[in-house]
Amino acid sequence: MCGIVGYIGHQEAYPIIIKGLQRLEYRGYDSAGIALYEDGEIHVSKTKGKVEDLKKKAENAANTLGVLGLGHTRWATHGVPNDTNSHPHYSNSGDLVIIHNGIIENYESIKKALQKRGYEFKTDTDTEVLVNLIEEVKNKEGVKLGKAVQLALNQVVGAYAIAVFDRTKPDEIVVAKLGSPLAIGIGENEYFIASDASPFIEYTNNAIYLEDEEMAIIRLGKEIKLRKIKNDAIAYPNILELQLNLEEIEKGGYDHFMLKEIYEQPRAILDTYRGRLLANEGIIRMAGIDQNLEKFLNANRIIIVACGTSWHAGLVAEYIFEDLARIPVEVEYASEFRYRNPVITENDVLIAISQSGETADTLAAIKLAKEKGAFVFGVCNVVGSSIARETHAGAYTHAGPEIGVASTKAFTTQITVLTLIALKLASEKGMFSASKFHEILTELEGIPGKVERTLESNDLVAHISDTYKDSTNCLYLGRGYNFPVALEGALKLKEISYIHAEGYPAAEMKHGPIALIDEQMPVVVIATKKGHYEKVVSNIQEIKSRNGRIIAVVTEGDKTVKELADHVVEVPETLECLTPLLTTIPLQLLSYHIAVMRECNVDQPRNLAKSVTVE
Ligand code: F6R
Repeated sequence: MCGIVGYIGHQEAYPIIIKGLQRLEYRGYDSAGIALYEDGEIHVSKTKGKVEDLKKKAENAANTLGVLGLGHTRWATHGVPNDTNSHPHYSNSGDLVIIHNGIIENYESIKKALQKRGYEFKTDTDTEVLVNLIEEVKNKEGVKLGKAVQLALNQVVGAYAIAVFDRTKPDEIVVAKLGSPLAIGIGENEYFIASDASPFIEYTNNAIYLEDEEMAIIRLGKEIKLRKIKNDAIAYPNILELQLNLEEIEKGGYDHFMLKEIYEQPRAILDTYRGRLLANEGIIRMAGIDQNLEKFLNANRIIIVACGTSWHAGLVAEYIFEDLARIPVEVEYASEFRYRNPVITENDVLIAISQSGETADTLAAIKLAKEKGAFVFGVCNVVGSSIARETHAGAYTHAGPEIGVASTKAFTTQITVLTLIALKLASEKGMFSASKFHEILTELEGIPGKVERTLESNDLVAHISDTYKDSTNCLYLGRGYNFPVALEGALKLKEISYIHAEGYPAAEMKHGPIALIDEQMPVVVIATKKGHYEKVVSNIQEIKSRNGRIIAVVTEGDKTVKELADHVVEVPETLECLTPLLTTIPLQLLSYHIAVMRECNVDQPRNLAKSVTVE
């Protein structure tokens, strides 16, 4: 949550920071602010609202030619979103300016102690407490900013990615990280600071990702100095050459990132299995699995932890692993798992799924499993993210940047990676004949083309959306592999259109939710030919006899459901275990079109953020 951007160099900082904040708005967008240094003064503009609002308000800052500045886009944790609580925050003297992503958990006790010593606070934030603590330490100990930041951080409990500069020493920015991401872009005599590389990718491909408990002193004309926050040991920067390009993080002619990302799925799925799935040779090659095969094959069980959409991908994986590889799987909300004293043994394998690789609860679950000796494997999209680094091994999804807050291509690429893993383990365990294995691999290889065909239903889905855009409730039903797809469809609808929606296993309907069905209630049913088809058809009949409105996702050529449902959307036929990769597409489009028709902010739904780095 929250996006941070900083710049020090020779270019005007304002446009770099503003553009960077816009790219990071997916991390939070309830308020935004900027601080620019020029001629001994710091110009601060901040506002409740989005970066667009900040631009209108920041005329002063826009006119400065400052080459040093910090910017912030916020997802409020402490203090309501208003102008005052927006970052950057400065110290009582006005000399130190800070931006912060994270939470300082013990801020209240520090605040009280600082107040006793004469400090005053204008905001309700934990961040203002931190910047004043740094100032107090700096003055009391007579140390430089870097040392003061280090000493202050040793007094705080919580999570942070911070950047601080001192008005009296404007050739330096100090940054530090624990639990929230922080990247430093290295240009020609200029440095960029950001929560991810998107704000600086057009200026440089060279970046350092700080590790937890590391800080850096970034001084113009000098090499970056890295230190461990706890013990002052020198850390050595690992400068990466990033592969990201600008095109990937722009809308490319689509009205919204979400639509662009829905349409990217054929390419994204292909990128996910490229080089891993060798259908002709009957091989799946995945370094993270190949090197740890024994761990997986000897595991008592696989525990999957994740949140939100990634948790739904985990549920799909449970079906695949148990069905194909006959390995017992438990799928847990990371937020519950981490606090419920779970039984974890050295013979467990834990798979953590996360698009961002930064979700705080998922990270905490990983740490817990590692402490108990389990082998931990990550499935992440963001390369170099905290989860990717914290796990023993892993597999990237290679979906490319996902900027729309509602996850779409992350979901299908996560399922693709998990399917590859399950197939690999199943084949190692001798669960299939060579010809069966070849058949499944070939079918998986053809999925991008089938997703492409499914996307052709876009106009039809838009038309259906128009009929239901004013609904207040919606039910999603599916069975087997498609039960998690029903959950995911409901989540998509509620998060971007604010219509209440629930996903249910179709057969559970008669144990309660059937009472909700009347002529006002749209019910989305996934009724593909494979997988309990007849039973789902019976469920559709039950809905019909109660006058519910049925939107069915069916296999191409289906006649039975067509006669019963109000609307049908077809998907190409595929193996049952691969149906989620297709059936989820119309549900993504449905939520997208309904949200657009309701004039909701599709890419930045209210109260949400892309990267949930607080628990
Ligand atoms: C829903 C959505 C969220 C995320 C969840 C986990 O569309 O995007 O539910 O799936 O916050 O995020 P990651 O996958 O980054 O750990």
